[in-house]
Amino acid sequence: MTTSESSSPTNPGYIGCLYGVGVGPGDPELLTRKALRIVQQVPVICTPQSETSNESYALEIVSEFLDRSKQEILRLTFPTDDAEGAAGVWRRGAETIAERLLAGQDVAFITEGDPMLYSTFAYVLEGIKSNHPSISVEIVPGVSSVMAAAASAAIPLVTHGQRLAILPAVYGIDDLREAIANYDTIVLMKVNRTLLQALANLETLGLAGKGIYVRRASTASERVVTDLSQLTEEDLDYFSLLIIRK
Ligand SMILES: C[S@@+](CC[C@H](N)C(=O)[O-])C[C@H]1O[C@@H](n2cnc3c(N)ncnc32)[C@H](O)[C@@H]1O
Repeated sequence: MTTSESSSPTNPGYIGCLYGVGVGPGDPELLTRKALRIVQQVPVICTPQSETSNESYALEIVSEFLDRSKQEILRLTFPTDDAEGAAGVWRRGAETIAERLLAGQDVAFITEGDPMLYSTFAYVLEGIKSNHPSISVEIVPGVSSVMAAAASAAIPLVTHGQRLAILPAVYGIDDLREAIANYDTIVLMKVNRTLLQALANLETLGLAGKGIYVRRASTASERVVTDLSQLTEEDLDYFSLLIIRK
């Protein structure tokens, strides 16, 4: 439910609703019915895009459902990390979206997986909430890559009273050691070159054979690797994660 039920796009003075829509991990069949309805009905689809690429993974997922003759694709380029100055870029991105909303257009900001887990939508949401508190926001959860990867690997993440930690894969051995001491299962996301370092650390931490690497879960290029010694830098893909189960 949105907080703007009394207004509609046909009313003069209507202010658009910002939808934060999780579009799932890759397989279009994992879109929720609600996500599908919203991405098909809004006039503006906003998609985050990294500085280093022209592709948008989230846009690829919903592409087949869009009508490009009627819907605007608003591509916003965001920094790939939390580098200094990133906050300003996100603020400007939020303002670009606000312009459409204040002109009476509903906007769906699509994110891969779920919008509330390591997503650029968090920054847009913050910008809209603080600068435009009258704008309605509705958030549509999506199937997170964490859940999709566990399904692809057929590994329960946690059972009974076990504890789960989700971390970005930028941690050094001390952080990893601490996480392993305190949690039963650790999911390392945002895989990058430091992952190979983390993998080497698994042996040092007595966890050899306990890691599973999942790339592009739920897509045609999915790969599940249980023998991590086989992984090379060429195998690494931004859209991959590591599940460590003690
Ligand atoms: C910016 S985060 C976005 C997470 C997303 N909001 C979610 O709920 O899955 C990007 C990270 O999600 C993970 N990821 C996204 N899609 C994936 C997929 N299909 N398979 C494996 N990992 C994926 C990767 O670790 C990637 O570096």
